[in-house]
Amino acid sequence: MLAHLPTPLEPADRLGRAIGLAPGRLWVKRDDLTGLATGGNKARKLELLVADALARGSRVLVTAGGPQSNHARMTAAAAARAGLGCVLAFNADPPPAAEGNQLLDRLLGAVLRFVGPVPMEALNDIVARIGAELDAAGRPAYVVPVGGSSPLGASAYVTAADEIVADLGHDDVLVVTATGSGGTQAGLAARLGHRRVLGVDVGALADPAPVVRGLAADVAALVGLAAPAGEPRLLRDQVGDGYGAPTEGTRRAVRLAARTEGLILDPVYSGKALAGLMSLDPSVLDARAVVFLSTGGVPALFTSRYAGWLAADEDDPTGPPPF
Ligand SMILES: Cc1ncc(COP(=O)(O)O)c(C=O)c1O
Repeated sequence: MLAHLPTPLEPADRLGRAIGLAPGRLWVKRDDLTGLATGGNKARKLELLVADALARGSRVLVTAGGPQSNHARMTAAAAARAGLGCVLAFNADPPPAAEGNQLLDRLLGAVLRFVGPVPMEALNDIVARIGAELDAAGRPAYVVPVGGSSPLGASAYVTAADEIVADLGHDDVLVVTATGSGGTQAGLAARLGHRRVLGVDVGALADPAPVVRGLAADVAALVGLAAPAGEPRLLRDQVGDGYGAPTEGTRRAVRLAARTEGLILDPVYSGKALAGLMSLDPSVLDARAVVFLSTGGVPALFTSRYAGWLAADEDDPTGPPPF
């Protein structure tokens, strides 16, 4: 077992009030509490993917991501737990020092490869090539696609949707999630339908809509459900200057979650997802329950890029208290 499941579904009335939702309407699904090297949404996917790798006799997990990839960090942890090797490719140049997730990647014993600033879409070909090299060297490799978003990996979010429906006791829900490689949104939509899932695009893909639509249909087929009707719901105005780029809305969202619920979001994914939710008029939240999916990613907060940005316009912490 890699992931601690089911994760809690917690009421978030203080955060809800701050964004215009009546008591009892906003919930947080705590997928930051899945465990596995500080936790996050990828633990659910890796549970299924690592079982598949072991069944196939693989000896090494290979995957890729952005420089602060949580998926890479959690793959490294899953490999350690399963007694497998791990090779991680990053679409960046080598940094002067390992920070945040990369510090943990090294601690977990992964081999890191920096392939320069190529688009995220190019990484799946690169990991396939690394996998073939390892196979040829007698180290059978299991290639985990970027974000763990194969149909099998994404199907883990059917279970997450089941947990939400069971805890609420109904399915009149709108789940709000960050959408990077698209698997999380796709798995939720395969179970709940596209109308009940709102993905906030974080800018990892040039256009996540066809990816989410295709993956949701593949996941539904895999688990024996009908393909969800309609189109994925995506909010695409929170990206800012690109994937990982800090924005003012994200800073406000990360602070609000921390100060109303003691909930720590991350600057690349869940912070942007909450910024997206905060940007909406509450009247468009057309469901009895709004569930914000907290997906983890906290290690990135402790890098110089984001720690500095988060504190930049902070009140003087040694000054008089604001209450
Ligand atoms: C913290 C966090 N939240 C959300 C996501 C988005 O999930 P997906 O790639 O399935 O769209 C990721 C993906 O890397 C993530 O690391």
